Amino acid sequence: MLQVAVTGASGRMGGVFLEYLEGQEDVQGLAVSSPQASVATAGAPENERLSCLEKVCSGQVPDVIVDFSFPDATLAYAVWAASKKVPMIIGTTGFTMPQLDRLADTLHSVPALLSPNMSLMMNLAWRMTANAAAVLPNNKVDVEIIEKHHRDKRNAPSSTALKIAQIVAEKRGWSLAEALRHNARWGMIGPRPQKEIAISSVRGGTLISEHSIIFAGLGESLEITHRSQSLEPFARGSLRAARWIVKQPPGVYDMLDMLGLQEVLY
Ligand SMILES: NC(=O)c1ccc[n+]([C@@H]2O[C@H](COP(=O)([O-])OP(=O)(O)OC[C@H]3O[C@@H](n4cnc5c(N)ncnc54)[C@H](OP(=O)(O)O)[C@@H]3O)[C@@H](O)[C@H]2O)c1
Repeated sequence: MLQVAVTGASGRMGGVFLEYLEGQEDVQGLAVSSPQASVATAGAPENERLSCLEKVCSGQVPDVIVDFSFPDATLAYAVWAASKKVPMIIGTTGFTMPQLDRLADTLHSVPALLSPNMSLMMNLAWRMTANAAAVLPNNKVDVEIIEKHHRDKRNAPSSTALKIAQIVAEKRGWSLAEALRHNARWGMIGPRPQKEIAISSVRGGTLISEHSIIFAGLGESLEITHRSQSLEPFARGSLRAARWIVKQPPGVYDMLDMLGLQEVLY
């Protein structure tokens, strides 16, 4: 029986993931929730989170932790995971660069997988984006990214959209910081600069995540779009990642490692 502790259990994604685990005969999901902590937003005490984790696991160490919570909470759970040598899957998004560095430092002694998107198809879309960006000429083809999410999403742009932008920047040999533009066209802005990767973020109602990458050329264009109709693809990908990570040596991985997609394409 694979014991999976789910942190952020009271959230939308944590709830769907736990429900998905209930349908698996060989997996036991342990809900780790600290409702008081979540009300207190980012300042919630670390020890409160950890005591919830200890209580749920009742002294027993789970085989793996799957986290869909909030950056500060994730960092606290990661410290616990590293101290107990528990592998960790992190689906939480919205980390700053310093937070990502701290996570990597904290987790270097355990197997950990971080991905802003656990869906198999979205990971494939990233690889397709890398191929298109490597082949299509920088000076003739513009790249625009449109992402849509529900009205309660906390961060913008989505980390998935940022990852797309990062892939394009890498393939084009551009600095992401210089080329990235977010949602800010208004008035007499003049012609589009060539060295630009633009992201537009749409938020509303119960929209479920959608990402489109548009390669706009001269007289033709190409679009790669990923749409999720439910959160189940993320749950499915997360369980696959959990089963995989428990067999890996210590290190920080992503879904492309698990899927063997790092090497097969450009
Ligand atoms: N990688 C992927 O494929 C993927 C897919 C979907 C969502 N996500 C990401 O997963 C995260 C959770 O998404 P969600 O839609 O489930 O969000 P949500 O409904 O807002 O739930 C977040 C949960 O995090 C916990 N939390 C801990 N500290 C918190 C704090 N300071 N403020 C707010 N919540 C806190 C709470 O659970 P407890 O009270 O139980 O601790 C809360 O219910 C987000 O970062 C989202 O972008 C990733």
